[in-house]
Amino acid sequence: MSDRARRNKAAQQRARNVRRALIGGLALVTVLAVVVVAVASRGDSEASGPPLSELGQAGKDAAVRRSCVGCHGRAGEGGAGNSGPKWVGLYGSTVTLDDGTTVVADRDYLIEAIVDPHAKQVAGYRQKMPVDSIPEADVLAIVQYIQELATPGPTAVSGA
Ligand code: HEC
Repeated sequence: MSDRARRNKAAQQRARNVRRALIGGLALVTVLAVVVVAVASRGDSEASGPPLSELGQAGKDAAVRRSCVGCHGRAGEGGAGNSGPKWVGLYGSTVTLDDGTTVVADRDYLIEAIVDPHAKQVAGYRQKMPVDSIPEADVLAIVQYIQELATPGPTAVSGA
């Protein structure tokens, strides 16, 4: 083989190596992008919020199943267009009712608000919550979920 031929061959080899490296790099970037998107969308579908206890998660699931989230938000952030009050920070807060009186949102208040929604009407909402017969287990789980939305994490919930 002549010198030129050898140089040509070496140049071809280098070009092949560069191509291989480029393709390899591209594949790596693609895989990384897929992983990043997958991780990001998993965060979305679980809807942001505090970590929940088992009962709290059951309450969240019940709220989705019973369409409460349509008016109160998928993460308890409140419904669009004032359709329902937010649950985040509700537990333990003072709620003003439409007759001007106030009430502390404790467990009893939350249970009543779900079981007998027309007993009290929160000020500022023209819409009334629909009355529905909800199994007690779901009511208690949802109340637990609302309690956990008021606190940083399940371990901080007392008297549950
Ligand atoms: C059609 C919309 C709608 C749906 C569906 C709905 N709610 Fe409501 N909810 C409201 C509105 C409006 C209020 C505030 C007015 C009132 O007191 O009735 C409210 C009030 C509440 C309150 C008291 C909130 C506060 O700030 O004091 C709780 C707790 C509650 N809802 C839980 C639930 C649960 C649990 C479900 C599902 C089983 C549910 N809601 C379904 C509209 C809705």
